[in-house]
Amino acid sequence: MNNMYIVANWKMNGDQIFNSHLITTIEKNSVINDASHMIICPSMPYLQQINTQKPSYMILGAQNISQYDTGAYTGEVSGKMLADLKTKYVIIGHSERRELYNEDNNVIRGKFSKAIENNIKPILCVGETIEHRNNGETFDYIHSQIDAVISSNKLDNLKELIIAYEPIWAIGTGQTATPESAEEVHSYIRNTLLNTDSNLAENTPILYGGSVNSDNAEKLFKMENINGALIGGASLNGEEFSKIYNIAGELTNE
Ligand code: 13P
Repeated sequence: MNNMYIVANWKMNGDQIFNSHLITTIEKNSVINDASHMIICPSMPYLQQINTQKPSYMILGAQNISQYDTGAYTGEVSGKMLADLKTKYVIIGHSERRELYNEDNNVIRGKFSKAIENNIKPILCVGETIEHRNNGETFDYIHSQIDAVISSNKLDNLKELIIAYEPIWAIGTGQTATPESAEEVHSYIRNTLLNTDSNLAENTPILYGGSVNSDNAEKLFKMENINGALIGGASLNGEEFSKIYNIAGELTNE
């Protein structure tokens, strides 16, 4: 698989002026590469702003989707609404949603279904806590998070799946997983997919997230089963984010 995916997760940051400047800076500093896909996930109120301002090679993503279609769900945003705003990707199961908003595998399964029904590609986040890691439970935990979605879906629904491995202890801490330890989990994920279907294993991009920056990106991206990154903090700096995107682009050219 030669395609790389560089995803900006702006989380709950930005305003119209900041966002506009960020998009302009990314545009100025990025070397467009067809094999390296750039996905920008702003906060919900700014989807339309980014969709209007962004150049066509930047693809719009959202950070959340409701597991329900429509109705009395105050504060929620449906798949239909996201599709209406030309959203092409959605982050599902981020550890911040799992931990702070009690989203369990059942809720995440529902959100996954709504993404597929609305032709929005799901980026499914998985990742262990430091306690899981120290107890030797990393693989089992990640297996259960992936299985929750895979076992309840037909293969056809899994065609557009992207998985993001984000060890919770590496998010926003500056403590990146070493390329080797990330690769160990990525290759485990690939093997887990292989148990379901060989095409699924071959075609599913597996991204790494957790303190990715322009200093550590190249080594991570050179790992066999790392197909890009889901980037929080560093995605709020246009020059830094572009550098990471350009590193991915250069590697897809090799
Ligand atoms: P950081 O890049 O800030 O560690 O955040 C990672 C993340 O949670 C992306 O979804």
